[in-house]
Amino acid sequence: MRSVKNICCIGAGYVGGPTMAVIAHECPEINVTVVDINPERIAQWNGDNLDELPIYEPGLKEIVAKCRDKNLFFSTDVEGAIDKSEVVFISVNTPTKTYGKGKGKAADLKYIELCARTIAKVAKSDKIIIEKSTLPVRTAEALKSILSNTGSGVNFEILSNPEFLAEGTAVNDLMNPDRVLIGGDNTPSGIEAKEVLSKIYEHWVPEERILKTNVWSSELSKLVANAFLAQRVSSINSISALCEKTDANIDEVSKAIGLDSRIGPKFLKASVGFGGSCFQKDILNLVYIARSLGLTEVADYWEQVIIMNDYQKSRFVDKIITSQYNTINGKRIVIYGWAFKKDTNDTRESAAIYVVDALLEENAEIIVYDPKVSEERIFADLDYLGTRDSSENRKRVTVANDPMEITKNAHAIAILTEWDEFKSYDWKTIYENMMKPAFVFDGRRLMTNSNLRQIGFEYYNLGEV
Ligand code: NAD
Ligand code: UGA
Repeated sequence: MRSVKNICCIGAGYVGGPTMAVIAHECPEINVTVVDINPERIAQWNGDNLDELPIYEPGLKEIVAKCRDKNLFFSTDVEGAIDKSEVVFISVNTPTKTYGKGKGKAADLKYIELCARTIAKVAKSDKIIIEKSTLPVRTAEALKSILSNTGSGVNFEILSNPEFLAEGTAVNDLMNPDRVLIGGDNTPSGIEAKEVLSKIYEHWVPEERILKTNVWSSELSKLVANAFLAQRVSSINSISALCEKTDANIDEVSKAIGLDSRIGPKFLKASVGFGGSCFQKDILNLVYIARSLGLTEVADYWEQVIIMNDYQKSRFVDKIITSQYNTINGKRIVIYGWAFKKDTNDTRESAAIYVVDALLEENAEIIVYDPKVSEERIFADLDYLGTRDSSENRKRVTVANDPMEITKNAHAIAILTEWDEFKSYDWKTIYENMMKPAFVFDGRRLMTNSNLRQIGFEYYNLGEV
C-alpha cells in the first residue's frame, strides 16, 4: 500500500480548516497543506493573532497553535500543493445555484469542476482525490470524466469522504466522530485507496467506526443524514405551533417522545427555525435530484421540511407584530444573536437574517448584538437579500457592542441565537431600561427557567402559551 507523506486540501473554510488541523494534530508524520484561492482567508489562517482565525470554533486555535508551520501549512499556492501531495481533499463550497437550470435548487458545482481541472492540469504522479465537500449523488462520475481525460498517464482514484461535523462543536466532532464514511470503487485500486484513507483516520478513530461503502451510497448518505436531521427540527417546530394553541409545552413533549429509545432525545429542540450553510442547500439538492428522476412524491415529501422551516420563521415574526398591537412601525426592537447557532461566527441562512428583514418591512427600528458576528457580516447578510438598498439597511439597523445599553427605550427584545451569555444578563435592569409593556420574544427557549414574567416582562416562549 502506498505511504502518505503529503496531503493537501483545496478549500480553507469551515470544513477544510478544522478537518485538516485535526488530521495534522493526530498524524504528526504527515505534512498537511490547506490551500485556498482567497488570499485574505489564508492570511488570516497564518496571522499572528490566533483570536482572529477566519473561523471561530472552540478548541481550534489551540490545535492550530500546536501544528501550524510544523506539519500544518496554509497557502495560496494551489498548484504547488496538489503537485507534491499523494492525497488531495476537495473541500470547496457547493452552494445552491443562483442562475440557469436548477436555479434555487441544484448544487452549483462550478468550484468542484475547477478543482478537478486544476488537478488534471498539474498532476504528474498518481493521486487519491477525495470529495470532502457535500455533493449530489453521482458527482464522482463527473470528476472521473474530467480526470481520466488528461492524457498524462496519471491514475486518479476518487473517493467520497463526506464530513459530518457540526459548527460550534467541530473539533470535538472531528476528534470523536460517530462514524467516518469512505466511499470508493470496489475494484482492487479502489479498495486500496479506501484502505489508504482509512489508515489516516485510524490514527485516532476506532476501526469499527470507519464505514466503507461504494461511492454512490457515500455521496447519497451525506444528503440523507442532513435531510433526516433537518426533518427532526421541522417536525418538532411544527408541533411547537400546536403547543401554542393547546396549552401543551414543547419541551415536555420533546422529553416525553425523546425518552422512547426508538426516537431518541437529540435534535428535538424547538427553535425559530434551522439555519446554517447546509440543511436547506442539501435538502433542496435532494429534492432536485428526486424531481429530476421523476420521483415527484419523494421530492414533495422532503420539500415540506423547508416549507415548515419558512413557516416557523414567519410565524415568529407574526407573533412579534400581533403582540405589539399589530404595529411595530418606528418601534425599537433589540435582536440578541445573529449567528445560526451558538459558538460559531457563521451566519449563513441564519433565521435572524429573515426575521430582521421581515421586521424592517414593517418599519421597525432594529438594533443587533451578537458576541461573535461582525457588523460588516450583518450588513452583508441583509444586503445579500436585496430587499432594500444597502444605505437603507444602514439607516434602519444599528449593530452594537453593548448588550445592556441598547435596551434603553426598546419596546421588545427578540432572542434569535442561544448564546449562553444572554442568560447571565441583569434582566431586572433590562426591564427598567425598556418601554412598557416590555416584550421578550424567545425564539430559542433560552430563558425558559428564568423569572422574566415575575420581573414584569411580557414573555413569549416559542412552543408554549
Ligand atoms: P466555505 O465557504 O467556508 O469554504 C470553502 C472555501 O473553498 C472558500 O474559502 C473558497 O475560497 C474556497 N475555494 C472555492 N473554490 C476554490 C478553488 N477552485 N481553489 C481553491 N479554493 C477554493 O465552505 P465550508 O462550510 O467549508 O463547506 C465546504 C463543503 O463542505 C460544502 O460542500 C459543504 O456543504 C460541506 N460541509 C460543510 C459543513 C459545515 O459545517 N460548514 C459540514 C459538513 C460538510
Ligand atoms: C449540520 C449537521 O448537524 C452536521 O452533521 C453536518 O455535517 C452539517 O450540518 C453540514 O453538513 O453542514 P450545523 O448546520 O453546523 O451541522 O449545525 P446543527 O447543530 O446541525 O444545527 C443546524 C441548525 O438547526 C441550527 O440553526 C440549530 O440551531 C438548529 N437546531 C438544531 C434546532 O433548531 N433544534 C435542534 O434540536 C437542533
